[in-house]
Amino acid sequence: MREAPIGVFDSGVGGLSVLAEIQRLLPDETLLYVADCGNVPYGEKTPEFIRQRCSVMASFFQRQGAKALVLACNTATVAGVAELRRDYPQWPIVGMEPAVKPAAAATRSGVVGVLATTGTLQSAKFAALLDRFAADVRVITQPCPGLVELIEGGDLHSPALCKLLQGYVQPLLDAGCDTIILGCTHYPFLKPLLKQMIPGHISLIDTGAAVARQLQRLLAERELLAPGPARAAQFWSSADPKHFSNILPLLWNSAGVVRSFDL
Ligand code: DGL
Repeated sequence: MREAPIGVFDSGVGGLSVLAEIQRLLPDETLLYVADCGNVPYGEKTPEFIRQRCSVMASFFQRQGAKALVLACNTATVAGVAELRRDYPQWPIVGMEPAVKPAAAATRSGVVGVLATTGTLQSAKFAALLDRFAADVRVITQPCPGLVELIEGGDLHSPALCKLLQGYVQPLLDAGCDTIILGCTHYPFLKPLLKQMIPGHISLIDTGAAVARQLQRLLAERELLAPGPARAAQFWSSADPKHFSNILPLLWNSAGVVRSFDL
C-alpha cells in the first residue's frame, strides 16, 4: 500500500501548481493527476455539479489503487470535500482553502485581499473561514471570472490577461491591502506578472506548500509514506489530451504522457 499512488485533481491545469509542491516535498511518491478540462471553469458551476465531478474523480482514483486523494482546487473543496470524506473514510483526503488564517496573522495594514473564483467566495465554507480567522481584519474579496480560461489556454502574460488581472488587483490596492491571498490554484502561475503589478511590500500567499505538508503529515500518521523511488507522474484530461500535453511543459517541470479521461 505504501507504494500506491496519490490521486490529485483540479478543474484544469491549476492543480499543477499544487502537484509541484507535493513533488518537491515528497519526491518518492507516485502521482496521478486528472484535469477536468472538459468542465473548466468550476468557478461558475453549481455546487451540485462540482460534487458530482468530485465523486467521478474519487471513484476513478479508487480504481487506480490510490492510497490518498488531494483536491488541488479551492472551488471543488468548498463544494465537495465533506461528501468525499464521508464516502471514502479509508483515505487521507486533503482539500484546499484560501489562506485566510496566515494572511490575517501576517497583515500589518489590517486589510487583506482575496482573489478567488465566484464559487469559492460565495460558499458557506468561505464565510465560516472569515468568521473564524478574520474577525479582526478587513477582507476585500475579488472574484476573477475569465482568468482561469486564459491560463487554461497557456496564457500567462498577454496584454488581454494583464488588463483583466489589473482590473481585479487595483481595487485591492486602492483599499490598502498589504497581503493578497491567491485563493485559486490557477493563480500562482500568475505570480511573476502580479509581482510587476503590485508594490514590493505587498505579499502574495497561496496554500500549495501547506497542502503538501498536510498530505505528508496524514501519510506519516498512517505509515503510508512511500519508500521510493517514485514512478513517473501520469496525467489525464477530460478535454483534448493533446492540448494538455502542449501546455504541460510550461506549467510542470517536464513533459508527460496525457491520456483521455472520458468519464
Ligand atoms: N483551480 C480552481 C480553484 O482552485 C478552480 C478554477 C475554476 O475551474 O474555476 O478554485
